[in-house]
Amino acid sequence: MQQPVRLAPSILAADFADLGAEVRAVDAAGADYIHVDVMDGHFVPNITIGPGVVAALRPYSAKPFDVHLMISPVDAYVPAFAEAGADIITVHPEAGPHLHRTLQLIHQHGARAGVAINPATPVDRVAEVLDMADLVLVMSVNPGFGGQRFLPRACDKLRAIRSMIDGSDRHIDLEVDGGINAETAPEAVAAGADVLVAGSATFKGGRDAYAANIAALRGRG
Ligand code: DX5
Ligand code: ZN
Repeated sequence: MQQPVRLAPSILAADFADLGAEVRAVDAAGADYIHVDVMDGHFVPNITIGPGVVAALRPYSAKPFDVHLMISPVDAYVPAFAEAGADIITVHPEAGPHLHRTLQLIHQHGARAGVAINPATPVDRVAEVLDMADLVLVMSVNPGFGGQRFLPRACDKLRAIRSMIDGSDRHIDLEVDGGINAETAPEAVAAGADVLVAGSATFKGGRDAYAANIAALRGRG
């Protein structure tokens, strides 16, 4: 069943020189999750942050840390991110040889497990592991950078995965990530998304604008 819409600001678009204050500010502005994009310069063509930064940010918010790992191989880093305070750890099927084992590993370390699918990844990759997934993330841009345009084909994938989730008896978050703004957010929600990641659209305009930005993404602008 589609759950109430939750907002997950991606701190990729925050001021990296002042990340603690940025996390505190989006928490106060109404974020439900804090989305952390981890990139290795190998799985995706960009390098961002590691578990040390996640641990350093942990005291700045009590909201769930939604850690999106765009790194390969991924298994060796799962324990460190869990220990750093990740509540949700999301991986891409292409990031290791055995997705099922990676999801088991995430659960063994006490985190919720997410599966992310790229624009060219078929929804079938999720079906075989749906019973182990706590979250499915549909990428609506190619991973690696903020500020890209929303790919409308993501809505077809959201609809397909929404019906898979509704056919299961579990609460599984359906998250969409990339190019989400006040125009694309309602399309993604209508297609079945219940967690919206938004980087640029949350962090634009300086800290005084975050609450209004989040409200606009919720359709209350
Ligand atoms: C892209 C990341 C996204 C990104 C979204 O690889 O996974 O979370 O930060 O940025 P916007 O919202 O600016 O498209
Ligand atoms: Zn992300």
